[in-house]
Amino acid sequence: MASKGLQHIPRVPGSIPLVGHALKLGRDPLGFLKSLRTTGDLVRVNVGTMPICIATSAEMIHQVTVAQARSFEKGRLYDRVRPLVGNGLANAGGEIHRTHRRLIQPVFHRARIAGYAEVMSRRAVELAQSWTPGQRVDIEHAMSEYAIETLAETMFSADMGRPALEAARRDLPVILKNMLLRAASPKFLDRLPIRPNREFDRAAGSMRKIIDDVVRSTREAARDGQLDLLSLLLDARDEDTGLGLTDEEVRDELVTILFAGSDTTASVLGWSFAELARHPAVEKQVLAEIDEVVGTRPVTIEDIPRLATIRRVLDEAIRLHGVTLLMRRTTEPVELGRYSIPSGVEVAFSLYAVHRDPALYADPDRFDPDRWLPGRRESIPREAFVPFGAGNRKCIGDAFAWTEATIALATILARWRLRPVPGHATRETAAAMAHPDRIPMVVEVRRT
Ligand code: HEM
Repeated sequence: MASKGLQHIPRVPGSIPLVGHALKLGRDPLGFLKSLRTTGDLVRVNVGTMPICIATSAEMIHQVTVAQARSFEKGRLYDRVRPLVGNGLANAGGEIHRTHRRLIQPVFHRARIAGYAEVMSRRAVELAQSWTPGQRVDIEHAMSEYAIETLAETMFSADMGRPALEAARRDLPVILKNMLLRAASPKFLDRLPIRPNREFDRAAGSMRKIIDDVVRSTREAARDGQLDLLSLLLDARDEDTGLGLTDEEVRDELVTILFAGSDTTASVLGWSFAELARHPAVEKQVLAEIDEVVGTRPVTIEDIPRLATIRRVLDEAIRLHGVTLLMRRTTEPVELGRYSIPSGVEVAFSLYAVHRDPALYADPDRFDPDRWLPGRRESIPREAFVPFGAGNRKCIGDAFAWTEATIALATILARWRLRPVPGHATRETAAAMAHPDRIPMVVEVRRT
């Protein structure tokens, strides 16, 4: 069949002149994203006056991220975060992305993650030991602090890096809070002297400057055997050219990693605790596994493969509450299904929505970690489960994130039973991930 032009892509009903679908998107973003598949596997929506194509099926997303990835660059969402993360890995395109990805990949190699796992484990023990029986803990907040501080310590392990660690702890929550608003609003609003802009600019400027200073002084220092992320990035060399990263490039990568790796991991951890408290039968299996594999000794990297139930819980938590929206832009004309798309068109897709597609998952809104048991998981097509994306832009920190989350869950649940505070039902809020709003819980002793 001959392919059809952009104007033939089905439009999602309910667009209002000038506003487009912005109201619907604002009112119930996650519901809106899930509803799009009923219009087609590639649909058109208007955000304000800007038309965006949205790929809604697993196969169409595979076309954009893997099969035809060469015809796409990162889209508008990423342009808007460039003042913060510069040309770090998540934002860079073309040849710069290819060389930097090759250069940085070894920093996330299994052998390196074993080193970071010691920091993850020590921090998790410290967190668990800081609680007292019967204490009320805001788990969402606790996980956010744990994820930021753990990631920052894997980057800046030396005394010299302490100011950067403190800057991340202070400035990153402010940046993350204001980021989505900035990414979604038009550029001219950035200069308005309103509080979110002032807060964002101050926090982003301060964090970048302090990390700059630490990168410079660490480059000049003797770093015998130091294996934190910063030192590994400073020492990374391209195998073919022997070239490494400049100080500015190292700073952009560090800020990118802080930005990409903290809230995401915190969100999935928070949801795992919330879902386990709602599903006592699964919680029982998890506790039995922890008792058998680790007890209350510190969790090590060798334990990770033996904590298979926790892995299924994490897979299921991220399936249900994953990344809400990603974007690309065509760099040349491309054929997507039956349609011909010209160059320069924004194409978005929602991992969250595809992970809840009833054509791919039985009872898609149900928390059921057993769907990932061997024998059952094979019925789910590979393209249908892409929590870390796919293709050349796939998350570089997936093993890092799962190691950290497994260690935190096993360490905390070995010591504490977390009970929801009555009267609050945790809900999804649409941020980069389908983030939990609040998770107030009471910690009860499991062991003394
Ligand atoms: C559960 C936690 C995480 C989730 C769900 C997640 C998800 C993702 C996704 C979906 C992408 C692809 C974006 C796209 O295609 O446009 C991505 C990219 C990326 N992630 Fe993660 N991420 C997580 C944790 C981390 C961690 C811990 C780090 C670093 C320590 C990290 C660093 C990055 C970087 C640098 C990229 C850009 C890769 C590239 O473009 O080559 N992420 N992440």
